[in-house]
Amino acid sequence: MTKDTILVVGASGQIGTELVIQLRSVYGNSSVVASDLKSATKEIMEGGPFENFDIMDESRLHEVIKKHNITQIYLLAALLSATAEKNIELGWALNMRSLSHVLDLARYGKIKKIYWPSSIAVFGPSTPKINTGQYTVMEPNTVYGISKQAGERWCEYYHNKFGVDVRSLRYPGLISWKEKPGGGTTDYAIHIYHEALKRQKYECFLSATTTLPMMYMSDGIRATLELMEAPAEKIKIRSSYNIAGISFNPEEIANTIKKHIPKFEMSYKLDHRQSIADGWPQSIDDHFAGAHWGWKYQFDLNEITEDMIANLRKEYN
Ligand code: NAD
Ligand code: SER
Repeated sequence: MTKDTILVVGASGQIGTELVIQLRSVYGNSSVVASDLKSATKEIMEGGPFENFDIMDESRLHEVIKKHNITQIYLLAALLSATAEKNIELGWALNMRSLSHVLDLARYGKIKKIYWPSSIAVFGPSTPKINTGQYTVMEPNTVYGISKQAGERWCEYYHNKFGVDVRSLRYPGLISWKEKPGGGTTDYAIHIYHEALKRQKYECFLSATTTLPMMYMSDGIRATLELMEAPAEKIKIRSSYNIAGISFNPEEIANTIKKHIPKFEMSYKLDHRQSIADGWPQSIDDHFAGAHWGWKYQFDLNEITEDMIANLRKEYN
């Protein structure tokens, strides 16, 4: 059996920063090549191979695949919801073209396996909001959501038509402290901890009652590895799996922070991201992920707040 060598594209972002470290701890440092347009953390740059390249450059991608004998790609590079609304052309081009380059590599036998994340943004204003199902009305109304829904269709098509082993999760908003978020609508649930520690106050761009599905990064990374390591016959959904963590609104997260920082004050000044959030579900039904490959989240809101504050306190002290 040949040893797997993994390429992570978008390794310097919020998810890549943690995913590369976890993959290297499982597969070995030299078997996980990190890549991005910009440098990654010191831990990633010094811990194993790194390639600086643009995923839109298909010939460079081919070179990197050949140079490192890559067998698997985790494709994380994308414009997220808020950023893509501000740059429609790049959002669509990057999110779609990167996926089609990688799917074609697998179609023509150059790599064996692909991970590509989708999002709760595939749902839209006409989707039922509570316990949103795997198969339901999906009419996304953002560039980002449209690109993720189209991407899901392509993943399923390449699997059915060409046997490509592509796997995907519809991540909820991911909360983490190691790297700043990259321009999403759920970013408030990260900024709030930084501001609570720095200034004991935060001005939130979503309303107090905007409930969204969220998840702690360690759960998100574990879900990714569990999905990728599951036997192929257990992966019965080749578009993208719903996965759920917890659901909360800005007022509820603020209340958990006040338990640790009693002086913390929250104010609200809504911006364009409110209308993006208004189109998304409030909670997710992930029973297929549970039944097919055993998914279950671990971190609740109080545990997330405790861990975020404990880690960020070290940074700000
Ligand atoms: P991020 O913005 O933090 O990171 C993306 C990385 O991709 C950045 O480091 C960026 O430099 C890199 N990149 C951008 N354009 C590139 C290019 N042309 N070539 C190479 N690299 C390029 O995003 P993230 O939060 O880490 O998200 C990763 C993936 O997960 C995305 O597909 C996103 O849609 C998906 N996702 C994230 C969340 C979340 O809450 N973070 C939720 C749902 C889905
Ligand atoms: N967290 C992401 C965003 O807000 C959802 O995909 O864009």
